[in-house]
Order: sequence, then C-alpha cells, then structure tokens
Amino acid sequence: MITLMSSTELETMREAGRVVAKALDTVRQKAAVGVSLLELDEIAAAVIDDAGATSSFRGYHPGHAPTPYPGVICSSVNDAVVHGIPNGYRLQDGDLVSIDCGASVDGLHGDSAVSFVVGEARPDDLELVDTTERALRAGIDALQPGARMGDVSHAIGVIGRAAGYGLLENHGGHGVGRAMHQDPFVPNEGRAGRGMRLRPGLVLALEPMFLAGGRDGYRVAGDGWTLRTLDGSRAAHAEHTVAVTEDGPLMLTAP
Ligand code: MF3
Ligand code: CO
Repeated sequence: MITLMSSTELETMREAGRVVAKALDTVRQKAAVGVSLLELDEIAAAVIDDAGATSSFRGYHPGHAPTPYPGVICSSVNDAVVHGIPNGYRLQDGDLVSIDCGASVDGLHGDSAVSFVVGEARPDDLELVDTTERALRAGIDALQPGARMGDVSHAIGVIGRAAGYGLLENHGGHGVGRAMHQDPFVPNEGRAGRGMRLRPGLVLALEPMFLAGGRDGYRVAGDGWTLRTLDGSRAAHAEHTVAVTEDGPLMLTAP
C-alpha cells in the first residue's frame, strides 16, 4: 500500500532527516585510519540520542535476516556493498566506506547513506563514489510530480551502466514514512515513462549501489547481513530520503 505524507508529516520527517544528516556528517569527520567501525556506531548513536530521536536500524528484523540488526549505522567497507554490521575492524588507509544511518522522530523515519575514502584514495574509488553520487542526484531530479517511477529508475541506472559498473540485483530504494521500508520498491534500473505516477506527498529513499567489477551478483556474508560483491571488487552506495512536492523534489535528509 502506498501512503502519501501530509505537509505536517513532511515537517517531522525533515526533523528526522536532519538528525540523520548530522549523524552521517559527524561519523564522516571522525572516520580516520585506526578508528573502528564500532566507534563510528557509538558516535552516530550519541548524535541520535542527543537529538531525542530513535535509531531506525537498531533492532530492525526483516524476515530474511537471522538476527535483529545490532547497530545504528551500516558500515560497509571495500567489497561490502551495504548492510555491513559495525564491528571491531579498524579503518585502514585507502578503505572505501559506506555509512548508512536511519532515525525516527514521532514515528516518522529518515534514511540516508554516504560513501567516502579514508586516507589516501585510489582514483578508481573516487570515480566510483562520484558516479554513485551523480546517479543519486539524477534520481532526485527525476522526482517530479506527474513523472513515473521508471523515470527515476532509468535516471539512476543509465549512469551506473554507462560507467561499466554492476548493480545489486533485487536491491534498490524504497518508500519511507511510518516504516523505514515501505512500498513502493524503487528499482535502480528501469524504463523511462513506465511504472506508477509520482504524486505530491510520496516519500522515497533513493539508493544507488554500484559495483566496480561490473558484475551484478552478490553474496551474503556469514553474519547474514553484509552483502559483498562476488568478485571482491569495491562498491559504493549513496542514499537520500526525498519527498515529491508540487514544487518538485524536497530532500529530507539534506544537512
Ligand atoms: N538504507 C538501508 C536500506 O534501505 C538501511 C538498512 S537498515 C538495516 O536497506 F537495519 F536493515 F540494516
Ligand atoms: Co534505505
């Protein structure tokens, strides 16, 4: 079922989105060689707590997962695409990290992710991150009232494919509201002009995930959560929660 948000609900979602943006920004500033993923999780948890918000991730337990999610962030390093559980791993020079974070205010969620390199970056990694961000931007620009879902998916997918990157099969964006994950599913590839019409009040999390090796498959790691590339190549991920309004896209997780 697709639910549209009222303008009051969008204001609350913007509050949640600001908390997420602040958590991501703080984590990004603290992420350095030698810092552990668990330490980054604690940093994000403190920002969410201080804001009086609630983590959307901690305790989240979808049917496919063996355990409730233990962190407030997902920290996915190098060949981990998404859903990396924060552990004692300490960041190394040149690591490509995706940090994903979600928080709710009064039961309304925001969900956002950013990828970056710690220490000295390889040019290929910067290109991968830049292309992923460009695809996210193109998806957001397509969130116009009256446009169709396929326009959004197409905008995201062609940018990844043009660069020769792989996509994560059956993974993409999603509706966000009173649940962090709700209808509709937003494929990261599609046909322009097809699919449901986008109406004001629709809120979507767009999340391109690009795989440098160019293959589309993935495997689930032993923890039952972390998705890794099949060929060991690196992946990048970027995400924003965005509302469709009469005036066009409104980024709820912008800083
Ligand atoms: N942005 C991620 C997604 O939509 C958030 C995952 S939260 C987790 O898949 F708790 F499931 F890890
Ligand atoms: Co998401």
